[in-house]
Amino acid sequence: MATATMGNLLAVIGLLISAATAASSPPATVYTNHTVGGAAGWFFNVTSNTSATNYSAWAATQTFNLGDFLIFNTDSNSSVIQTYSNTTYLSCTIDDAQSNDTFQYDGGETKFGEPLTVAVPLTKEGTNYYFSDGDDGGQCQHGMAFTIQVQHGLGLPPSLNQPPPPPYTEPPGPDSAQSPPITIPQTPPSGAFSLGTSVSTVFLALLYLLTFLVVSNALHF
Ligand SMILES: *[C@@H]1O[C@H](CO)[C@@H](O)[C@H](O)[C@H]1NC(C)=O
Ligand SMILES: *[C@@H]1O[C@H](CO)[C@@H](O)[C@H](O)[C@H]1NC(C)=O
Ligand SMILES: *[C@@H]1O[C@H](CO)[C@@H](O)[C@H](O)[C@H]1NC(C)=O
Ligand SMILES: *[C@@H]1O[C@H](CO)[C@@H](O)[C@H](O)[C@H]1NC(C)=O
Ligand SMILES: *[C@@H]1O[C@H](CO)[C@@H](O)[C@H](O)[C@H]1NC(C)=O
Ligand SMILES: *[C@@H]1O[C@H](CO)[C@@H](O)[C@H](O)[C@H]1NC(C)=O
Ligand SMILES: *[C@@H]1O[C@H](CO)[C@@H](O)[C@H](O)[C@H]1NC(C)=O
Repeated sequence: MATATMGNLLAVIGLLISAATAASSPPATVYTNHTVGGAAGWFFNVTSNTSATNYSAWAATQTFNLGDFLIFNTDSNSSVIQTYSNTTYLSCTIDDAQSNDTFQYDGGETKFGEPLTVAVPLTKEGTNYYFSDGDDGGQCQHGMAFTIQVQHGLGLPPSLNQPPPPPYTEPPGPDSAQSPPITIPQTPPSGAFSLGTSVSTVFLALLYLLTFLVVSNALHF
């Protein structure tokens, strides 16, 4: 009898504990990293003139929320353009794009075929457009383009609340291989000057001390 009561009591305590745990567990939604194209990645086959996979079909399988990332496993033959402008998207080029609604992500590669992973945070609700402007827009025209709808979800995490403006750079064109990046000559470190200054200051101080000693000795005699 006493044992049964104790058992019931323990069961009730157990239920209370699990109820409390359930109430304090995190909300069902979490931030998600979406690997674009799945295992196929973000690639273009110039021989077959086709994208590695159907990116629109891939996007249709995902739910996108603010604070999520798109992870592009790609190489420097393709680019990652993010735009909020349907005009820019449909043109497959960033030539006439506005710098406030279109962003190019790249790893600063200057050679073709370098492997690249590009992480793009989703910071704006609504329609986001993505494409590669490689091969003068040919990659975009042949499947390297897709549209997503970004929902509110949990909202932006603090780390993305005020995102820094993404770098906007010229796409690697056929000319970029011929023109290496300009190296700005470094000015010598200021330490070199301050060392020189302090040496001469010490020298001057010693000179004054010596002069003082000589003069005061002279006054004594
Ligand atoms: C998602 O990708 C971002 C950017 O690369 C990274 O900082 C973050 O740790 C990743 N999150 C997960 C859950 O893998
Ligand atoms: C590219 O396409 C060609 C022709 O269809 C095919 O033979 C080749 O294997 C493809 N390359 C890759 C890396 O998928
Ligand atoms: C790919 O398609 C574009 C446009 O249709 C065409 O100009 C180009 O010659 C094609 N490239 C190859 C390798 O078939
Ligand atoms: C890619 O998938 C979309 C959506 O599933 C479909 O409408 C479209 O026809 C496909 N494109 C190609 C080139 O197969
Ligand atoms: C582009 O977006 C604007 C504003 O959202 C809309 O008015 C227009 O119809 C769209 N154009 C196309 C071609 O989808
Ligand atoms: C971008 O700037 C143009 C004018 O330069 C303005 O008309 C447009 O509304 C801006 N777009 C966004 C998304 O802020
Ligand atoms: C990248 O482009 C270069 C130059 O057009 C080509 O030789 C190379 O095969 C391409 N790499 C891939 C993975 O398509």
